[in-house]
Amino acid sequence: LFAPHRANAKGWDITHRPTLDEIDQGRTPFLNHLWAAAPLSSARGNDATSSPRAVLNPVNKKDTVGQITWASPADATAAIEAAKPWGAPVKDRADVLRRVAAAYENNAEELFAMLHREAGKTMLDAVGEIREAVDFLHYYATEAEQRSPTARGIWTCISPWNFPLAIFTGQISAALAAGNAVLAKPAEQTGLIAHRAVQIMYEVGVPTDVLHLLPGGGDIGAALTSDPRINGVAFTGSTPTALKIRASMADHCAPGTPLIAETGGLNAMIVDSTALPEHAVRDIVQSAFQSAGQRCSALRCLYLQEDIADKVIDMLKGAMNELHLGDPWHLSTDVGPVIDEAARKSIQDHIDTAAAEGRVLHALPVPDIGTFVAPTAIKVNGIADLTREIFGPVLHIATYKSQDLDKIIADINATGYGLTFGLHTRIDDRVQQVVEDINAGNIYVNRNQIGAVVGSQPFGGEGLSGTGPKAGGPMYMPRFAASVDYPDIP
Ligand code: SER
Repeated sequence: LFAPHRANAKGWDITHRPTLDEIDQGRTPFLNHLWAAAPLSSARGNDATSSPRAVLNPVNKKDTVGQITWASPADATAAIEAAKPWGAPVKDRADVLRRVAAAYENNAEELFAMLHREAGKTMLDAVGEIREAVDFLHYYATEAEQRSPTARGIWTCISPWNFPLAIFTGQISAALAAGNAVLAKPAEQTGLIAHRAVQIMYEVGVPTDVLHLLPGGGDIGAALTSDPRINGVAFTGSTPTALKIRASMADHCAPGTPLIAETGGLNAMIVDSTALPEHAVRDIVQSAFQSAGQRCSALRCLYLQEDIADKVIDMLKGAMNELHLGDPWHLSTDVGPVIDEAARKSIQDHIDTAAAEGRVLHALPVPDIGTFVAPTAIKVNGIADLTREIFGPVLHIATYKSQDLDKIIADINATGYGLTFGLHTRIDDRVQQVVEDINAGNIYVNRNQIGAVVGSQPFGGEGLSGTGPKAGGPMYMPRFAASVDYPDIP
C-alpha cells in the first residue's frame, strides 16, 4: 500500500480496448454492443417524438454506447393518466420482485458492461452496485410480505447517475412492493441502463401499466412532480433540486403528499492522535477516492489531530500514488472517470483555484482521455471553507488541536448537512461523546464511511442531506404505503 510512486504512472494505455479474445473468449460481447432506449410505458403522448441522442462512454468519447430518445412532457402526462396501482396480491408482487433480482443476476455481464460503459464504473463498483440492487429487491419484497402494505397510488421516482442501477431499483422496488404505480425518471446521463432494467422488470412480470419509464431532462422531472394526481415522490440527487421539487409539490400536490429526498453531504472524518495511521489511511483513501468520489456518502473534509498529521499525510500521499487511474473495465483500475465533461470541469475548476492559492498537498497524474479528474488532497482551515459539495475525488484536509474538538464538531454541524461521518480513535469515551454530538444519518467508527449495506446499515441523512426514511431500512417501504401492519412489533 505504501510503496513508492510507480515510475510508469503516466504510461498506461487506456485507449486500448481489449478484444473479446483478450478478455474472455466471447463472454463479453457487450463491450461492442450498441443499446437503444426510449420511453417505456403503456401510453405515449401525441406530440412529436424528440430525436435520439448519442450516449458516449465517459472514459473514451470514441466509444458510442448507444442512443436514447427522451420522453416529452406529453408522454409524461399520458403515463400519469395510464398509471395503475399494482392490484396483484402482495405475495405475487414479492415473487415478481424476487424474479427481477434473479434476472439481474442472470444478466450480470450485460449490466456490468453497461455500468462500465455508460457510467464509468470500475469492476469493484459495478459488482457492488448489482449486489445492492439485488439486495434491495429481496429486502423490500420480504418487508412487503411481512407488513401487508396498501398502495398510496402513483409514485414518481427520480434517480441519480451515480448509482444508476442500485438506487433506480431501490426506489422503484419499494414503491412497487407497496403496490403503487411508478413513474420512473432516471438521470439524463444513465438512461440506457435504466431502460434495460425496466425491460427486465417487464420480462419477469411487472405490468406495463404499473411501471412507466420516462427518460429525460428537467422538463420531465417538473411534469412528474407538479401534477395533483401524484401521491408521492422519491428523489435522490442534489439538495437544490430537492428543494425545487418540494416547492413544486407544495404548489401542485395534495397537502401531505410525501417527498422522500436523499441528497448531498459535506461529510467529515475526524482522526485523533490515538488512531492507527495505517488503518486510518486505508479508510480515508476508500472513503474519498473510491467511485472517483462520486458518492453522496464520500469523505470530503478530513480533520487530523496535529500530533499525527504529518505522518498520516505522508502515508496518504504514498497510498494515493498507488491508485490506478484508467479504463474501468480493467480489474487493476481503482479510479475511473467522472461522469461527464460538465462534472470534470466543475471539479477541476475547484482544484485549479486551490492550486493557484498553493493549497494542493498532493495530486496524481491524469490520463489525457475521457473525463478524468486526478485524486487530489487540498489543505483547508476547516469544513467552513467548503462552500459546496465537490462531487469528485477531492479530499480537503484540516488539522486541529485536541482542545478544539468541540468547536470542530460545532463547525461540522453548522454546515446544515448531515449524511455520513467518520471517526478514528481508540478512546471509548470519545466515541460516545462524538457520536452523541454529531448530526449525521450514518456514523462510522474505525472504518471507511461509504458502502452502507442494505438491511443492516439503513442509509440516509438529516438536515440538508435528506428527509428520511433511510433506504434499506425498515421504515423505507412503509413510507410508500398508505397503511402497513406491524405484526411483529409490540
Ligand atoms: N449508499 C451509498 C453509500 O453508502 C450512497 O452513496 O455509499
